[in-house]
Amino acid sequence: MTDQKATLNIGKESYEFEVRQGSVGPDVIDISSLYKQSDCFTFDPGFTSTASCESAITYIDGDAGVLLHRGYPIDELAENGDFLETCYLLLHGELPNKDQKADFVDRVTHHTMLHDQMTKLFSGFRRDAHPMAVMVGVVGALSAFYHDSTDITDESQRMIASMRMIAKMPTIAAMAHKYTVGQPFVFPRNDLDYASNFLHMCFAVPAEDYQVNPVLARAMDRIFTLHADHEQNASTSTVRLAGSSGANPFACIAAGIACLWGPAHGGANEAALNMLTEIGTVDRIPEFLERAKDKNDPFRLMGFGHRVYKNYDPRAKIMQKTTHEVLAELGNTDDPILDVAMELEKIALEDDYFKSRGLYPNIDFYSGITLKALGFPPEMFTVLFSLARTVGWIAQWKEMIEDPKQKIGRPRQLYTGPTTRPYLPLDKR
Ligand code: CMC
Repeated sequence: MTDQKATLNIGKESYEFEVRQGSVGPDVIDISSLYKQSDCFTFDPGFTSTASCESAITYIDGDAGVLLHRGYPIDELAENGDFLETCYLLLHGELPNKDQKADFVDRVTHHTMLHDQMTKLFSGFRRDAHPMAVMVGVVGALSAFYHDSTDITDESQRMIASMRMIAKMPTIAAMAHKYTVGQPFVFPRNDLDYASNFLHMCFAVPAEDYQVNPVLARAMDRIFTLHADHEQNASTSTVRLAGSSGANPFACIAAGIACLWGPAHGGANEAALNMLTEIGTVDRIPEFLERAKDKNDPFRLMGFGHRVYKNYDPRAKIMQKTTHEVLAELGNTDDPILDVAMELEKIALEDDYFKSRGLYPNIDFYSGITLKALGFPPEMFTVLFSLARTVGWIAQWKEMIEDPKQKIGRPRQLYTGPTTRPYLPLDKR
């Protein structure tokens, strides 16, 4: 709390509100008593100026291009740590020590298998189903198989549900992939680390041996780390809102997956790759840049711009490096799509339209190219995002449930429809 007060004048009346201070970031005017005091609501579609909750998990300074998880910069976590360590940090608030890490990894590793009846669920989907549709359905169905961890008032059940989801998400995602490509499921292997096990479940086939390439596994792990959490974005807010009613955690995460699927959110890497493919060659870049700037053309540069980052997305820098490492490992450095991406980035960063609006490449600009090089079809890109973001959703959901001040989320509205009117019988309309 600061000593400052915010005063709002409406007509002759004046109302005072407390100004709250976070550990870092903009001050927040606490208007929770506004309606009671003044009979007015605030209006902020898209929540551009509204803090929907209090949180101690992730901090973003969009103007400076900073992303911190529990205070640790994302580039340090991605370069020096690994995904499961980041999961522990997000869930528990501190980096694990050696024993804590070994225990956490062991617990995740021993929860990777799915209830066998769940594997039969997949065959209920059409063969050409989008894997995100399969994810929404199968993750939602976890609550039908693991009801012993759906009592959200029980702390140990909350933790078991959390561990189950972090552990089983790669298995479900890999099965969604295998189902759509028509190959048999590959079951988890406890001798492999999290990322290697996932690559193995996605790309191994019973007919031959599959050796996981450690460079690609490290890249996969880093992609997971970069996507682990991003404070109150659309899907996380969806998870919190769903959870605020007391819904079980599996249902809440399924709601988050549904939200993530949209092209303005998790679907952007697929859209960015499609755009780069459509541009095709460097000489066509100016044509597409003109289209992106033309207000009469709905075309946007996919993978550019961000609601929060008005500077370089710190995740994009590491993603760009990872892209180069993967392509070099695969002997694919002269990929024409990468040439288009590099040149487009260079031109757009020097262009006044993009500079004046703070439009920089976001993580999706490079992640599509990398995931394609790793062997994933574009439909799987958002699935991988949802796999990685699951820990962020869970950490935010747990934080909300464990907050004694938590209440159901219930936004209000500015109603512009008809006022009361009498019902007209059918023959009078
Ligand atoms: N290409 C061309 N112009 C753009 C773009 C773009 N990608 N993004 C924003 N603008 C322009 C927009 O037309 C507007 O111009 P003006 O002020 O002249 O009207 C200005 O920049 C501000 O745009 P906005 O739509 O008000 O910004 P927003 O914060 O509501 O939108 C966004 C953020 C990410 C939805 C948007 O930048 C966009 O559609 N980008 C492309 C899709 C994309 O890459 N999404 C991934 C986001 S990162 C992944 C994640 O965290 O989920």
